[in-house]
Amino acid sequence: MCHDDDGTASGPTGKALGAANLTSPAIRKESNEALAHFISAGKGKMPSFQTTLTQQQIADAVQYIRSLGNTGAAHR
Ligand code: HEM
Repeated sequence: MCHDDDGTASGPTGKALGAANLTSPAIRKESNEALAHFISAGKGKMPSFQTTLTQQQIADAVQYIRSLGNTGAAHR
């Protein structure tokens, strides 16, 4: 919903919230630890997933973000 299926956050909800484009160079430059931290702790309008996702599920989400295509579009 927030980041859309393709991770670009180009849909109405993502744009309204200012959700990050998970395919952007800015996000791809971040370490797996940093991405896991943001998913766990939340950031800005993004909720924390600390109590809803296990460590393994957060690690899987980071690998999913890494698998998203690199559009190079500077959406963020
Ligand atoms: C498990 C699901 C999710 C994952 C893996 C995920 C991942 C991320 C990542 C990696 C960032 C970038 C953090 C950074 O480096 O700056 C981000 C930012 C953001 N996400 Fe999510 N997200 C998820 C769900 C959501 C949901 C459900 C929402 C909306 C309610 C949301 C809204 C946002 C917003 C608004 C930002 C920008 C935060 C800021 O920079 O202030 N995300 N997300």
